[in-house]
Amino acid sequence: MDSGNYGKYDFIVVSNRLPVDRVAEDDGEGWRRSPGGLVTALAPVMSSSEGAWVGWHGAPDETVEPFEHDDTHLVPVPLSEEEVEFYYEGFSNATLWPLYHDVIAPPEFHRNWWDAYKAVNRRFAEATAAIAAEGATVWVQDYQLQLVPRLLRHLRPDLRIGFFNHIPFPPVEIFAQLPWRRQVLEGLLGADLVGFQRASDTSNFLRAVRRYTGSLIKQHFVELHDEAGRRECRADTFPISIDVARINELARRPDVVERSRQIREEVGDRTILLGVDRLDYTKGIGHRIKAYGELLEDGKLQVEDTVLIQVASPSRERVESYRLLRDDIEASVGRINGTFDTLGKTAIRYLHHSYPTEEMVALYLAADVMLVTALRDGMNLVAKEYVAARTGVDGALVLSEFTGASDHLRQAILVNPHDIDGLKERILQALNLPKGEATRRMRAMRRQILQNDVEHWSQTFLHALAAGRG
Ligand code: F6P
Repeated sequence: MDSGNYGKYDFIVVSNRLPVDRVAEDDGEGWRRSPGGLVTALAPVMSSSEGAWVGWHGAPDETVEPFEHDDTHLVPVPLSEEEVEFYYEGFSNATLWPLYHDVIAPPEFHRNWWDAYKAVNRRFAEATAAIAAEGATVWVQDYQLQLVPRLLRHLRPDLRIGFFNHIPFPPVEIFAQLPWRRQVLEGLLGADLVGFQRASDTSNFLRAVRRYTGSLIKQHFVELHDEAGRRECRADTFPISIDVARINELARRPDVVERSRQIREEVGDRTILLGVDRLDYTKGIGHRIKAYGELLEDGKLQVEDTVLIQVASPSRERVESYRLLRDDIEASVGRINGTFDTLGKTAIRYLHHSYPTEEMVALYLAADVMLVTALRDGMNLVAKEYVAARTGVDGALVLSEFTGASDHLRQAILVNPHDIDGLKERILQALNLPKGEATRRMRAMRRQILQNDVEHWSQTFLHALAAGRG
């Protein structure tokens, strides 16, 4: 590419979704914040840099011109209805997602899905190549775009390319199932730096690279030979976090504090257990509800003085396993409420909605115990948000040991969610935590996340990317 053809952006984030989604509204089309932890983490990074963000705008068969949003230049990448089905719902969320999450649901392997994945990854790489300034830094995000680093390097060898995987990277014995495992690894190795949430993800990736590409690996560096000659790709661990200051600030805002008081009043001033998740089978929502239902049945908890609020935000609703999960969860909630509700009090307040951050923080403030019982989770930002919101240095966090967050929040009440009896014990332990112990645990967790917020995550990654090996 000659210099006249370079774009003007020095820093570009590329992710499957843009930070906002196109939605139909009564009075015309509008935009809404996209779901999930990725956007939660990257939005503050972008608002502090004048960069561009390349991603899908969430609606099929629609071409949207680039536009400005919160001081960021957004470049929408169009997807056809069939690509949404094959690339997004299919390969990304019915092949890679279950494969990378310990095959909790069986992954499906279809060649036409793989073809769509390749085509869409190419489109993302081309859209990025067209707007990047000479020598720009490009940061590609997550499992939907694993082929982009290599495609982009081919188009624009001048770029500094980083990739961050927000979800787990599976053990090689599971990754081995993927018919296109070598191509995926080669796609990722197109980056100068590949980042993972946990040390175990990094070592799983390096083992897979050793086994399926035959590349030489020295500690965290993979030696490669391509068009540009010899180069290295570094793989390392960069645990993601949240915008701690923003959550802290919201948790102190009088209207949010007042809203949390209202929430408590609305549920009849009972002890509140809280779950907040995308409605996803990786989150262990069913295990949590089962444990809670059994505690009611055993008479260890009473509906008169305890309530479980479960926020389950709608997610990937056209994917079969998500539809089945929803039926399952709603049947369990119905059964438990049918058995234990009184006319005035309900056992589980189940909310199939997404809420703005203000409402979430009010819920965190209102909750005596936060339940994070994921069966597998790259990080889990909800756990970190709960801790950040507890400005009173109280409350209790029950946290699955299968989350990345459990590496850092060691003073949480850690649990194996598959062990329902253990989970019941941990819930009771959290409900009966002596005040002094609750404060000690929460203080230590707050210290941890205050020192490691999302700014620290992005700066550490971007410094490593800029530095290369030296
Ligand atoms: O963090 C994992 C992730 O899959 C993100 O890549 C994604 O944006 C988010 O969860 C929500 O999922 P989806 O974009 O499929 O609604």
